[in-house]
Amino acid sequence: MLEELKATGQAALEQVRAAASEQELEELRVRYLGRKGLLTQMLRATGSLPPDQRPAFGQSANQIKKELDQALAEAQERLRAQAARAAFRPGVDATLPGVQPRRGHLHPITQTERLILAVFTRMGFAVVESPEVELDWYCFEALNMPPDHPARDMQDTFYVQEGVVLRTHTSPVQVRTMESTPPPLRIVCPGKAFRRDSDATHTPMFHQVEGLMVGPDVSFAHLKGVLISFVHQVFSPQVPVRFRPSFFPFTEPSAEVDIGCVVCGGDGCRVCSHTGWLEILGSGMVDPNVFINVGYDPDQVTGFAFGMGIERIAMLKWGIDDLRMFYDNDLRFLRQF
Ligand code: DAH
Repeated sequence: MLEELKATGQAALEQVRAAASEQELEELRVRYLGRKGLLTQMLRATGSLPPDQRPAFGQSANQIKKELDQALAEAQERLRAQAARAAFRPGVDATLPGVQPRRGHLHPITQTERLILAVFTRMGFAVVESPEVELDWYCFEALNMPPDHPARDMQDTFYVQEGVVLRTHTSPVQVRTMESTPPPLRIVCPGKAFRRDSDATHTPMFHQVEGLMVGPDVSFAHLKGVLISFVHQVFSPQVPVRFRPSFFPFTEPSAEVDIGCVVCGGDGCRVCSHTGWLEILGSGMVDPNVFINVGYDPDQVTGFAFGMGIERIAMLKWGIDDLRMFYDNDLRFLRQF
């Protein structure tokens, strides 16, 4: 038994020293020292030997196990170094830490758009999109702006051809949706809009979110409730909100929504032109003429609509004072979001 133990130990040592890969080494470890390993089983059998043979056998067994452990550790070290040498190429230091690829993230405008949409979809609004190149009818006429209407001057239009424009706002999606869907409905519509305008607060392309809710008894109170809740969710529940009478051809009555200046807290500063208030969106009750244009009966339904600039919300939320930064693609700017 003792002879067999020594022979097995010797064989194990030789094999470990000759091992050519870490995988082979692991297999040897299991074969000899694993739970069902050859040496492990022999050690377990110590108890069945005649008492006078046990001490010598136990001593040898422990000695062999120690030697084998050490040989395993040495072989492991040798194989690691060998692998590192194999990985060496002139000019390439395989031991240097790797270069982490930088992870990108969503553009701040996309982030803001998603934030806005999340608030409205939680309130039951569906997201709808419509074309950026639009017919005059959808962009203006159906929205109560006939060709000679002075309100067309409010929006400097890019014409693609006679009767075809780059949409100057996302409001045409209201018309398209109502044309194809019977009431009631609740939609929000994100997208690009285009105007011939360029300065610190205007870019020729910008983004809007349009909203529309139509039903048998939708009131101005619903408009206020939805928009106040929106402001509180996007800015903070403490921000004051006011509705200021205004005019849009497609709503009557119309209101612009102001929030307490997020920069000075209402005391008056450069950003709010010392008024303490910042305009964030336009809104109103859908004009009966618009309902007639899409085939809805203004005696059966009422509705409210609103439209906001995504860039404007983003600028106020993050305190950005030049709109053009969003489109300069300067990574030092974009990485801050
Ligand atoms: N379309 C308007 C604009 O671009 C924004 C707007 C105002 C949309 C009032 C609406 C609304 O739906 O009711 O400036």
